[in-house]
Amino acid sequence: SDIEKGTYPHYMLKEIDEQPLVMRKIIQQYQGNENRLTINKEIVEAMNAADRIYIVAAGTSYHAGLVGKHYIEKMARIPVEVHVASEFAYNMPILSENPLFIFISQSGETADSRGVLVQVKELGHKALTITNVPGSTLSREADYTLLLHAGPEIAVASTKAYTAQIAVLSILAAVTAESKGINLEFDLIQELGIVANAMEVLCDAKEEMEEIAREYLSTTRNCFFIGRTLDFYVGLEGALKLKEISYIQAEGFAGGELKHGTIALIENGTPIIALATQEHVNLGIRGNVKEVVARGANPCIISMKGLEEEEDRYVLPTVNEMLTPLVSVIPLQLISYYAALHRDCDVDKPRNLAKSVTVE
Ligand code: G6P
Repeated sequence: SDIEKGTYPHYMLKEIDEQPLVMRKIIQQYQGNENRLTINKEIVEAMNAADRIYIVAAGTSYHAGLVGKHYIEKMARIPVEVHVASEFAYNMPILSENPLFIFISQSGETADSRGVLVQVKELGHKALTITNVPGSTLSREADYTLLLHAGPEIAVASTKAYTAQIAVLSILAAVTAESKGINLEFDLIQELGIVANAMEVLCDAKEEMEEIAREYLSTTRNCFFIGRTLDFYVGLEGALKLKEISYIQAEGFAGGELKHGTIALIENGTPIIALATQEHVNLGIRGNVKEVVARGANPCIISMKGLEEEEDRYVLPTVNEMLTPLVSVIPLQLISYYAALHRDCDVDKPRNLAKSVTVE
């Protein structure tokens, strides 16, 4: 069945490998007539009626939400705030006049997110849930649902749900933009197809990723992820993956923010994983790498083809610049996986963590 490991040693590795398939499934599921992406009309209307969108989520889904904000603002031109559910519940920001809430949750059962949903429904606001589980609590209690079509995710560390969330958010943003007459100058179906192919290349790069994990992470105490704009958000997710399954102290930082404190932590040999997929900040992130290297850091630069330099450890295939999180996260997932293996950690069931947290 769908949820057996088959020949895979761990669910996590299986789920990482399923990402190209999930991408194609999403394209297919959201494809309407005439080869155009479609989203339920009511949802598009709710997007357009909103003067501000509030994305609420936890963990990996929160990290997908950060990318979603970028998409909705850049493509559909609607202002977006992203909130951690457990904070929002007790510290609600001043809401706009016509807010729309988007709950992102793989399981659809996270209690922190549900707490917020109950509150905002009481206030009379509309809510959309983006989830992998039809009929889940968050799906039933919201006004609208968009499904991830990622298939069951068993490993505690989320992988394919993250990329599925980002893909669905890109479709939501693009379809909303189109409904407003905004010309995006690219065909998202085609671009997501290119992403699926790139994902395949990355899933075939396991040996390289295992080697990176061995070289940088076998014995280290800590590790930093740096990037700017979208790469920063993916770095946050990379750091979370590494913490969750390998127990290495890891943090993601915006490249430019390092000098305001964190650079004090850099010692001889500290591993720094830097993402360089965004042209307009390429110079900036390269400068940040130089700053940490000057303090003894051991850099592992993952760049995108077209922006690569000789010092780079791995070069990703080119995809649309907005969609890079869908591909750049895969090496980080694999590096975390192998780091955990090398350190004898239980990859699928890390200590202290649950797949879905149904208590606040
Ligand atoms: C738990 C899991 C995380 C997940 C988070 C949110 O903490 O361990 O992997 O990202 O819940 O889960 P959700 O199902 O709401 O996306």
